[in-house]
Amino acid sequence: MCQNAGGGAESPGSPSRRAFGRIVAAGAGVAALAAVAACSPEGRTQAAPSGTGVPTGSPSPTAQASAGSPAATAAATTTNPADPGPAVSPGSNSPAASSPAAAAPGRQYSLTDPTSPWVVVNKHRPLSPAAFVPPDLVQPAVRLAVSGEAALLNSTTAAAAQRMFTDAAAAGVVLVLASGYRSFATQTATYNSYVNSRGRAEADTASARPGHSEHQTGWSFDIGDGGGACSFQPCFAEQPAAVWAKANAHRFGFVVRYPWMFHQITGYYYEPWHLRYVGIEAAVDMHTRGVATLEEYFGLEPAPSYL
Ligand code: DAL
Ligand code: ZN
Repeated sequence: MCQNAGGGAESPGSPSRRAFGRIVAAGAGVAALAAVAACSPEGRTQAAPSGTGVPTGSPSPTAQASAGSPAATAAATTTNPADPGPAVSPGSNSPAASSPAAAAPGRQYSLTDPTSPWVVVNKHRPLSPAAFVPPDLVQPAVRLAVSGEAALLNSTTAAAAQRMFTDAAAAGVVLVLASGYRSFATQTATYNSYVNSRGRAEADTASARPGHSEHQTGWSFDIGDGGGACSFQPCFAEQPAAVWAKANAHRFGFVVRYPWMFHQITGYYYEPWHLRYVGIEAAVDMHTRGVATLEEYFGLEPAPSYL
């Protein structure tokens, strides 16, 4: 059973907040893990946030990404970026003011190679190859709510997750790994379960089509808090695990990939449980500059729907 999520910036009693609370059923006949792992908020009433569109006053995102910017053109020379620590980049708080091509510290990585920590996968940018399997999947030494492939991450993400979970625990916050790697086949089953239960249009707001999920890269995972009452549900946004992650994940190289009110850019409604590793430098830089999405950070076009 999945439930649409929401919350974040809104008070629990607000109209749009209530609208996010509608319970929707995941498809029957698919493993519970696969079903719950794809749950995401529907949030039909989310309005496009101000200031979250295509950057203005600077080259178009597409132009930035194709005009030789380091972020767009750097080859993926490593799969395991050695994070040099929280190197905070000076810059504007406005996502539109600068791109990492101009201000991101440190080395640059490919936006297309799935072994790159900066690979951007969205509704406009499928994985290539579609059946990509991370070569270095490992099970992190963290508290698990799943087993099998869903307990796996690529080695860099696993190491970062271990550090983050340990730090959270020291702060009295329980994080659990609720869904990690998903193969192309698993994503196919997950997505199809949504299509069967909710229809294709609604499925596309919650579950990535096969070959379009970050979970297949090994760079992403979903967190829970061990209790499960709010797992993949709207109220998770207000649980200590999500609050802590939102405030601290960047210190370990993670971003909340599908933030509140940015579905017009990311293609998905708020998923406070879905974390994505991009490296400490980029994550801290995004946090410091107030850039919410990878699409904006890397100067890429918004991807609200499939082409
Ligand atoms: N729920 C996210 C978008 C996925 O299916 O990858
Ligand atoms: Zn996820």
